[in-house]
This record gives sequence, structure tokens and C-alpha cells, in this order.
Amino acid sequence: MINIVEPVFSQEEKEALVEIIESHQITRGKWTRRFNEEFARYLGVKYAFSVCSGTVALFIALKALGVDKGDKVLVPAMSFMATIDAVYLACGEPVVVDVDEYYTMDLNQVEDAVKRFSPKVVMPVHLYGGMADMEGIMQLSDRYGFYVVEDAAQSHGASLKGRKSGAWGHIGAFSFYASKNLPMGEGGALTTDDESMAQRIRKWIDFGDHPAFNVRITEFQAAIGSIQLKHLEDRNERRREIAARYNEAFGDIAIVPRKRESSEHAFHLYTLRHPKRDAILERLRERGIDARVYYPYLLQELRGAQHLPTPTAEKFRKEVFSIPVHPYLSEAQVDFIIKEVISASA
Ligand SMILES: Cc1ncc(COP(=O)(O)O)c(C=O)c1O
Repeated sequence: MINIVEPVFSQEEKEALVEIIESHQITRGKWTRRFNEEFARYLGVKYAFSVCSGTVALFIALKALGVDKGDKVLVPAMSFMATIDAVYLACGEPVVVDVDEYYTMDLNQVEDAVKRFSPKVVMPVHLYGGMADMEGIMQLSDRYGFYVVEDAAQSHGASLKGRKSGAWGHIGAFSFYASKNLPMGEGGALTTDDESMAQRIRKWIDFGDHPAFNVRITEFQAAIGSIQLKHLEDRNERRREIAARYNEAFGDIAIVPRKRESSEHAFHLYTLRHPKRDAILERLRERGIDARVYYPYLLQELRGAQHLPTPTAEKFRKEVFSIPVHPYLSEAQVDFIIKEVISASA
């Protein structure tokens, strides 16, 4: 099987893990400090706080912004379930809006929903690694006064107009789960450029004068993250190269992913659309290609959230499928995937 995602580690990670074991400093040490500093620098923001998962990062972001009983939070119809579950866990009330052709929040609906529901927070997701319309969303935030939490769990290294995902909103939330472009095994981070936001985040993760959680990562995770971060740009570039080959090969037979103008896609997933999706998927899996549907549900269906009409997401949900695009694919594997997708779509 050619796996849909595949983390790869080198001698460098092995040596770092041995060094940590021998140092006996297995948590709250130099690697965690280093990772936080390096990740913030990479994004071009002042603060990054590593935590134990992306779900926890989203939850803490919402609590840091004061979300509590009855506060509305806008989320897109297409995402992983943690996006909406974080809202429920924070005691907020999610309102689901439709997506646009980039699989991210539809800006027109965001404005309609803001007028109707006065949300405290809008939570765009950079789905599959493609940037949401952050410029438009931040303009609406200035006009209407809501906070913005970016769910950047799938978009490490994606950017719009030169600014990285996770550096646009009031707070960014990342996941470092094993399958992500920057994997630690498990892990997450909150990012912000704003000192007052950083203060509010610290209250939820440092024990002291406010009830807090222990959400720390170990030195092992931080070391893996720090070493993976050094290779992120090159590995994302390889993803883009593979995606460019796919776009050229599939442009006439399926709807290929588009990226917003002046943006860089991180291609966490390479997602196509085709009306005969299910038959194609079955055929690719028979041929040893781990193609999958992200996601077979819309967020409003999971826990019965209120939502605006979502005709685009409803159509896309029946047609999307993702194929391997990870940077460890060989040219021969890319050729094989291209040949098989073309023959399965015929
Ligand atoms: C869009 C999105 N949001 C949130 C999460 C939650 O991250 P984690 O699995 O690290 O809790 C994930 C991934 O797993 C995700 O893909």
C-alpha cells in the first residue's frame, strides 16, 4: 500500500532522543523552550506555546478569548471533528457556515452569519493545507469586532501574501499529530503576536492563580518537532512539486485543488473532486493506493449544530477524495498514482 501520509525520521532524531534519555531532563527542558522559540520565529510571531494536541490548542484558544456558555463561534462545514468539538468543550455554541471553492469558509456567509449571530469568535480552517481568505476575515473582524482563531492543524508553512497560517488571527492553533506536515507523534501549539493574548493563554497552561491544565509535551516530542521544523520548507516544496504534476495530469479528468492568489499551499492533503468518487476510491485501494475521503461528514451533522445553508459543502462532500502527496513518495510512485487515477476515472 502507498500510504496516504507517512512521517519519516532520520539519524538526527534518534540521536536527540538518546541525548534526552541520557540527560535525565525528559520534560520542561531546553528542547521545549527551543521548539517554542523556533516555531514562533518560523511563523513570524512573538509567541508559540506548545501543548499536548491540536484539540487542546483550539480549546485553550477559545477559553483564552473568553468563550463561555452561549457564546457563538463560527466554523466551516468541512473540517475534522475536533474543530467543532473544541467549541462544545469550551461551552460555546457553534454556528456552521458553507465553504467556498477552496474548501475554506465562504466569506459572504461569514458576514451574513456575523450579522445574524454576533459570534464572539470566527474559526477559519486552512483545510488540506490551503489558506482561508484571511484578509477578508480580518477585515470583517475589524468591522464587527469578533476574534479570529485560525485552525492551522493542516497548514504548517502555508502562507497568504507572505504571512504564514497561524500568524493572521488573534490566535493560531496547530496540531503536530503523527500525520501532519510537522509531526511529533502527538502535540499542538498556540501562536500569537499579541502580548495580551499571550497572557491570557498562559493562564490556561501555567499553574498559578487560575485553574489550569497540565498540557505539556515532553522533551522527546519537542526535539522531534524542532528537527522536523528544520526540514518543513523543503518537504512542503516537495509536496508542491508532486501536486503540480498531479494538477497537470488530472486537470481534464477531475476538479483539481486551487490555491488562493498570492498564497502558498502546504498540501497536507491533495484532494480531487469527481462525481464517480466512490468507484474511483475502490479501484485505487484495490491497486494499493491509500486514497481516502476527508471528511465523510459535515460538521453540523456530528452533534446537531445550527447552520446556514451549506449547498457547496454538501456537493463537495460526495465528490472529494485525497491521494498520497507526502514528500517521501518516489517519482516511480508518483507515476504509478497518476496512471492509476487516470485509468480509474475513465
Ligand atoms: C483541522 C483539524 N483541526 C484540529 C485537529 C486536532 O488535532 P489533534 O489531533 O492534534 O488533537 C486536527 C487533526 O487531527 C485537524 O485536522
